[in-house]
Amino acid sequence: MPNEGSYEAALRRSQEIEADIEAGNVGKYVMLTGDRPTGRLHMGHYFGTIKERVRLQNLGVNTNIIIADYQVITDRDTTEHIQDNVYNMVMDYMACGIDPQKTMIYTHSAVPAENQLMLPFLSLVTEAEMERNPTVKAEQIASGHALTGLLLTYPVHQACDILFCKGNIVPVGRDQLPHIEITSKIARRFNERYGKVFPEVAGLLTSTPLIPGLDGRKMSKSYGNAISISMTEQETAKLIKKSKTDSERFITFDPENRPGVSALLITAGICSGRDPKEIADEIGNGGSGQLKKYTTQVVNDYFAPIRERRHQYENDLDYVKDVLHDGNRRANEIAEKTLCEVREAMGMVY
Ligand code: TRP
Repeated sequence: MPNEGSYEAALRRSQEIEADIEAGNVGKYVMLTGDRPTGRLHMGHYFGTIKERVRLQNLGVNTNIIIADYQVITDRDTTEHIQDNVYNMVMDYMACGIDPQKTMIYTHSAVPAENQLMLPFLSLVTEAEMERNPTVKAEQIASGHALTGLLLTYPVHQACDILFCKGNIVPVGRDQLPHIEITSKIARRFNERYGKVFPEVAGLLTSTPLIPGLDGRKMSKSYGNAISISMTEQETAKLIKKSKTDSERFITFDPENRPGVSALLITAGICSGRDPKEIADEIGNGGSGQLKKYTTQVVNDYFAPIRERRHQYENDLDYVKDVLHDGNRRANEIAEKTLCEVREAMGMVY
C-alpha cells in the first residue's frame, strides 16, 4: 500500500480521538461530513457512515452534515432532479436518526461565505498537489468526461466545507484520507501565512467493513445492486430475489469464489448482528432460495422502524424544507463569522 506510514499515523490519531470522545471529552470536537445528492441513500451509506454520524451526534459531539449540491456538477453536466434528491436526502438522514436539533444540515449552494473561502484557499495549493489526488483521477476516469476545473479543485472545495465551521473531525474511509491531508495542509498553510484561524483536522477512520452490493461488486445505485433506505419491503424482496448467486446449492461463505452468495451473507449478517459464516452453516442445503428469504427478512426487519419514520417525513415536505432552511440559516451565520476572521487575518478589512 502506498503511504503506509501516513496511514498508520492517521489511524493512530483516529484511535486517540475515538478514545477521547468515549471518555466524554466531546466539547473540543466539531464533526463535518456529507454526501452528494445524486440519489437515495442506500445500505452502504447507512452502515458505512450514517450510523457513525448518529452515534457521534448522540454522544454530544457538535455534528454537521453538508449536502454537497455543487459537487454534483464536478463530473456531470446536469442538475436534473437535484431539488428532489436534496429533500429526499434530508428525509433519509432524519429517518436514520439524525436529529436536526442537534445536527446542522445544509447545502453548499446556500452558503456564499463558505464558497468564498475557495479564493484564499486556492492560493495555498499547487496544481501538482491537486492532480496527485487519487480520488480526483478516479472520478474523472469513471465519469468519462474531461477533467473540469471544478473536479480538479473539489478537494479544495471540501476544505472549505470542513473549515468554514472549524470542523476538526471528518469520518472517512481509508480511500478518503488524501482529502483530509489536503484540508490539513490548507489549514496549516493559512495559519502560517496569516495567523491562526483554522484547527488541526483529522480523519475518523470508520471500522465498519465495506459492505458489497448484492452482486459482490462495489455497492452503487448505477449497478442496481444497492438496497436503498427508501425502498419498500416489496422492492427490497424483489431486488434480493433477482440478485445473482451461483449453481452450487450448498451455501458457504467464500467472498473470493462466491461473490453473490457471500454478499447476501454479509448483508444478512450486518442486519442481524450475526457472523456470515454461522448463517451459511445454518442454511447449508437450503440453497440460495432460503438464503434470499432469510436476507430479505432481516433487512426488512432492520429497516422497518427507519422506513416507518421516513413515511412521516414524506408526508410532511414543509417540515423537511424548514429543517433545511434552518440549517442553511445557521450555516450562513457561521460562515460569515469565519469569513470575517479570514478577512481580518489577511488585513482585508475596509
Ligand atoms: N465528497 C463527498 C461525497 O462525494 C461529499 C462531501 C462534500 C464531503 N464535502 C465534504 C465529505 C466534506 C466530507 C467532508 O460523498
